[in-house]
Amino acid sequence: MKVPVSKPHVGAAEIANVNKALAESAISGVYGEFLGQFEREFAAFCETEHAVSCSNGTTALHLAMVASGIKAGDEVLVSTLTNMASFFAVLYIGAKPVPVDIDLQTLTMDPADLERKITPQSRGIMVVHLFGHPTDMDPVNALAKKHGLKVFEDCAEAHGALYKGRKVGGLSDASGFSFFANKVLSTGEGGMVTTNDPKIAENARSLRALAFGTTNKFMHVDIGFNYRMTNLQAAVGCGQMQAADQLIDRRRAIAGHYNTTLAGLSDHLIMPPEMDWAKTVYWMYHLVLRDHLIPKRTAIMQDLAAKGIETREGFIPFNLQEIFINQGLTKPDDCPNANKVAYASFYLPTGPDISQAELDYVSEEFIKTVRMVAG
Ligand SMILES: Cc1ncc(COP(=O)(O)O)c(C=O)c1O
Repeated sequence: MKVPVSKPHVGAAEIANVNKALAESAISGVYGEFLGQFEREFAAFCETEHAVSCSNGTTALHLAMVASGIKAGDEVLVSTLTNMASFFAVLYIGAKPVPVDIDLQTLTMDPADLERKITPQSRGIMVVHLFGHPTDMDPVNALAKKHGLKVFEDCAEAHGALYKGRKVGGLSDASGFSFFANKVLSTGEGGMVTTNDPKIAENARSLRALAFGTTNKFMHVDIGFNYRMTNLQAAVGCGQMQAADQLIDRRRAIAGHYNTTLAGLSDHLIMPPEMDWAKTVYWMYHLVLRDHLIPKRTAIMQDLAAKGIETREGFIPFNLQEIFINQGLTKPDDCPNANKVAYASFYLPTGPDISQAELDYVSEEFIKTVRMVAG
C-alpha cells in the first residue's frame, strides 16, 4: 500500500466550475465571476469584512504587511517555528524579522518571549497558527496595543480554526491564507488576505494588481506587484467553499482516529494538542518525539517509507537556519524551546481523501515501527 502524506480533495463542484470558466474564456486574474464570489464567500467563512485574493500564501503575507504600512527598517516579531515563507515575506519589505520563541504545548508564539523581544523599532507581530492550532491571541493583542504594534496572522495552515469561538483570520489587523495543494482548503496555488480594515483591504487590492491608476490606468499610484489569483483558481476555490465544513470535519476525524489508535505510544511521543479555548483543524497530524526517541527520527521515517507510508519532518525554526545565522540575523540560542522540537517532529498522512483502510494501515504499521525502533 502507498499512502501519500497529503493529496488534495477535488470534488465535482470544482470540476464543473473550472469547466464553466474555461468555456467562458475567463482564465485570467482580471475578470471572471469566480474571483469576486470566492472573495465574498471566503470573507463570510472567516467572519471578516474583506477578503482579497492573491497568488499564494507568501504573497498574501507580504501584501498584508505592505498594505498595513510596514516599511523597510521596521522590526517585525515572528513566531520562529514556521514555514520560512513567514520570514521571507518580512524580508521582501526590507524589514527586519525578529524570531520569537514558541510555547511548547501549542508550538505557537510564546507571549512572554514576545514581550522580551519588543524594542523601540518594533512595528509588527506575526503569529503563526501552526499545524492548524490557533495562537493564544489575547496576550499578543494586549502587548500590541500597549506598544502600538500591528498584528498579522499567518493562517496558511488554519482555515476555519477557532480561538475562543472566533475564526482565525479576523483576530488581528490583517491575515494571510494559503491555498497550496496540501492546505485545508486548496486551489492548487493561491492566497487570500483577510481584514476588517477597509483601508488595508483597498491598499491590498491595489498593490496586488500593479497599483494601476484610477483615472488614468497607466499612471500607477504605487510600486505594485502582480500577485493576482486567476479565475480558474477561484473556480476551484468556490468548489472548496461548498465543502469547507466537511473538509475540516474530515481532518478532525482523521486526527481523532490517530489520537485513539496511537494513544498507547504516549511514552514515546506527544500527540498534537487542542487547548480548551481552541478548535484546531489539524492541517497535518504532527507528532513530537520524546527525548529518548529524537535520535531515531530518521530511522522511524525510513522504516515507514519502506512500508509505503510517506511522512515529512517538521519545520526548522528561523533561529537554526544557516542562511540567516550567516547573515547575522539570528543565532541558534535565540529560541531554546523551538530548538527542542526542531529535529524531533514529523507528520503522518492527513489528506482528506485518505481511506479508512489506509488510516488503519498507517496506525498499525506506525505502532510496529515505533516499538521496533524504541527496542
Ligand atoms: C505557515 C505557512 N506560512 C506560509 C506558507 C506559504 O504559503 P504558500 O506556499 O502558498 O506561498 C505556508 C505554506 O506553504 C505555511 O505553511
